Amino acid sequence: MSTHVRGLTLALIAVAAAAAAASGQVAAPPPWAYGCTAVGTEPAAPPCTTESKPLDCARIGAPRPKDVIHKLPDTHRTFTEYEIHYDYGPADWYPDDHPPMPEIVARGRESDKLRACALCHYPNGQGKPENAPVAGLPAQYILQQLQLFRDGKRRSADPRKANANEMIQIARYMTDEEMKAAAQYFSSITWRPWIKVVETDTVPKAKPGMNGLFLPQPGTDTEPLGQRILEVPEHPDLTERARAPRSGMIAYVPVGSVARGEELVAKGGGRTVQCTLCHGADLQGAGAAPPIADRQASYIVRQLYDMQAGTRESPMMKAVVAKLTDDDMIAIAAYLASK
Ligand code: HEC
Ligand code: HEC
Repeated sequence: MSTHVRGLTLALIAVAAAAAAASGQVAAPPPWAYGCTAVGTEPAAPPCTTESKPLDCARIGAPRPKDVIHKLPDTHRTFTEYEIHYDYGPADWYPDDHPPMPEIVARGRESDKLRACALCHYPNGQGKPENAPVAGLPAQYILQQLQLFRDGKRRSADPRKANANEMIQIARYMTDEEMKAAAQYFSSITWRPWIKVVETDTVPKAKPGMNGLFLPQPGTDTEPLGQRILEVPEHPDLTERARAPRSGMIAYVPVGSVARGEELVAKGGGRTVQCTLCHGADLQGAGAAPPIADRQASYIVRQLYDMQAGTRESPMMKAVVAKLTDDDMIAIAAYLASK
C-alpha cells in the first residue's frame, strides 16, 4: 500500500470514527441480534473469500438422524430428520402453500455447493430470525439485494455470522436467470404474520445455536431480559428439528418498547424520519421500500445496525439510521414486529 493510499485510508477511518462517535454509536454489533456469541465455545466462522464455494463458508453441525421420523399437523407427509434438513432438496411440508418452486429454490446446485434457498428461508419464504423473511418482498427489491450481496455491498457487521457470509457467496454463484426466477417466486407468496411480541422483564434462559437461532434451554430457568430482544421459536422442536414452516416466533421485548417504537416510527421522535413516508402508511411497503411490519425483530435490528455501520449499502436509509442508538433500534423493531 503506498503511503498516500495508507494516509487516505487512515483519514477515512478517522472520519468514520468521528461520524460514529457523533451518532453515539461506537459499540460492537449487539450480540443478541447477531447470535454469534457461541463463538469461543464453538468453531469460529470458517474463512470465506470471494472464491469460496457457498457451503465452505458455513458452520456445519452434526448430521441429522436418518431414523427419526417427524409429522406435522394438517399434512399427511412424513419425513426423516435427515430428509428435512437435506441441503439440496429439504422437505416441503405444505406444497399447497406456495407455487411450484424454481430449481434453485427447491434444490440449489450441488455441483457448486450452493444450498437450496428453501433450506434457510423455507419453501414458503417465511425464513427464520437468524436468516431473513423473503416472502412477499417486491421482486425488484429482491433482485437489488441479491446484486448487492454479489457485489460486496451488503455484508454483516459481524464477520462471524457464517450464514450471512454464505448468502453472499450464494449470490455470487447464481446466474441472472436464477436471480430473476427466485425473486419472482418469493415475491409472489403472501407473507403470513407470525411474530408474537411480549413485553416482559423476565425471559426463559436461551442460547444461540450454531447459526444464531436462539433456543430456550431445557428446564424452567429464567433470567432478566435487560435491554435486548430475545426472539425464539414458539415451538422450539418444531422449528429446529422439523423446520415447520407454519410455526411462528415469540419476540420478548423490554417493557414500554412498543409504545416508544411507535413514536419513533410514526413521528421520528426527533431522532429519525417517519418510516411511513417511504414504507407506506401501513408499513407494508411502497415503491422501492419493502414491507417492514410484522417481520422478524432481530432481523430488523441487524439491518438497521448494518446500514448504520455501512456494511449494508443503502443510500435511502443512511440518514434515517445515522442517529439511532441500540435502544432506539430495539424499540423500533419491537413496534414493527407487533404490527
Ligand atoms: C445458508 C442459509 C441461506 C441460504 C441457503 C440462502 N439464504 Fe438468503 N439469506 C440468508 C441470511 C443469513 C440472510 C440475512 C443476513 C442478514 O442478517 O443480513 C439472507 C438474506 C436474503 C435476502 C435479503 C432479504 C431482505 O429482506 O433484504 C434475500 C433476498 C435472500 N436471502 C435470498 C435468497 C435466495 C434467492 C436464496 C437461494 C438462491 C437464498 N437466499 C439462500 C441465508 C441463506
Ligand atoms: C426516504 C425513504 C425511507 C425512509 C424515510 C425510511 N426508509 Fe427504510 N428503506 C427505504 C428503501 C428504499 C429501502 C430498500 C432499499 C435500500 O435498502 O436502499 C429500505 C429498507 C429498509 C429496511 C430493510 C428491509 C429488509 O427487508 O431488509 C429496513 C429494516 C428499513 N428500511 C426500516 C426503516 C425504518 C425503521 C424507518 C423509519 C425509522 C425507515 N426505514 C425509513 C426507504 C426509506
